[in-house]
Amino acid sequence: MSIDPVKWESGELAILDQRQLPQKEEWIVAEEWEQVAEAIRSMAVRGAPLIGIAAAYGLALAHFKGRDMVIAKAGLAATRPTAVNLFHALDRVFAAEDPLAEAHALLQEEADANDRIAANGASLLSENATVMTICNTGGLATVGVGTALGVIRKAHALGKLKEAVLLETRPRQQGMKLSAWELQRDGIPFRVIADGAAAWFMKTHRADMAIAGADRIARNGDTANKIGTYGLALLARAHDVRFVVAAPTSTVDPRIESGREIPIEEREPAELTHVGSEQIAPRDCPVWNPAFDVTPAALIDAIVTDAGIHSPPFDFGVLARSHS
Ligand code: MRU
Repeated sequence: MSIDPVKWESGELAILDQRQLPQKEEWIVAEEWEQVAEAIRSMAVRGAPLIGIAAAYGLALAHFKGRDMVIAKAGLAATRPTAVNLFHALDRVFAAEDPLAEAHALLQEEADANDRIAANGASLLSENATVMTICNTGGLATVGVGTALGVIRKAHALGKLKEAVLLETRPRQQGMKLSAWELQRDGIPFRVIADGAAAWFMKTHRADMAIAGADRIARNGDTANKIGTYGLALLARAHDVRFVVAAPTSTVDPRIESGREIPIEEREPAELTHVGSEQIAPRDCPVWNPAFDVTPAALIDAIVTDAGIHSPPFDFGVLARSHS
């Protein structure tokens, strides 16, 4: 079932508030770019490609309302640091003669890219596959079928999927809340496991692949993604499970050679210490809450993009330059 998590509606941007899912489907109507920026910062809208698309519309909204584009671009760029799609999208729309047309074009390109990623990724799977994944990389994180979740959708459509195994994805639980919601809507078989159950699942069940999305891919293939992805890749290597990254070429950062240069967002302690508004940790409990980690290229067996299936050793210099 298709999901349109952002919609341009004659001078306003409607944003599906993902913080409310799966309980409620509520929409935020942004009339100014600042509201789009706040929706990105607060994770009402999230996922690397969708952050880029939302920001693109945010900047188009600033143009539409006759606001200062330089200030709007800086404000939108300051929302979340890790997903490079944000910066690529803002540069594109800022340079465009018609910012709104550019935002529409970006959305369509990402949807098309996802279809190609899905077909490329599913070709790596054989029959009766069990596929583990982390976070939400579906239509809520992009547009269309999604990236890693798009591969799972395609595998199901081709009759190759036994089940998807969704890591809950602490602390915000995008796997359990969002991916489960998407797969349930589509009637795709899945189970949710606690993040801490991933090793034991690999030990006691057959997993054919662990697949993750990406927020930024360096030229050498080092990949930033949701916190816990690095651990999943280590577990996959230890249990002889293929570890694959699925992402559009817009997620490749041509400016950086390795993952050491990727800025990692740290978010507020309350994501860990509270459940909803209720504090469950001791007061003033010290917390470290990085939102992402970097999986070294050496742990990645394949990176699937809209341009094809890339095998190690990775060199995204040429590919990325054509998209920068
Ligand atoms: O913090 P989030 O929910 O924006 O993090 C999302 C992820 O880490 C996704 O795996 C990544 O953005 C790829 S989405 C296709």
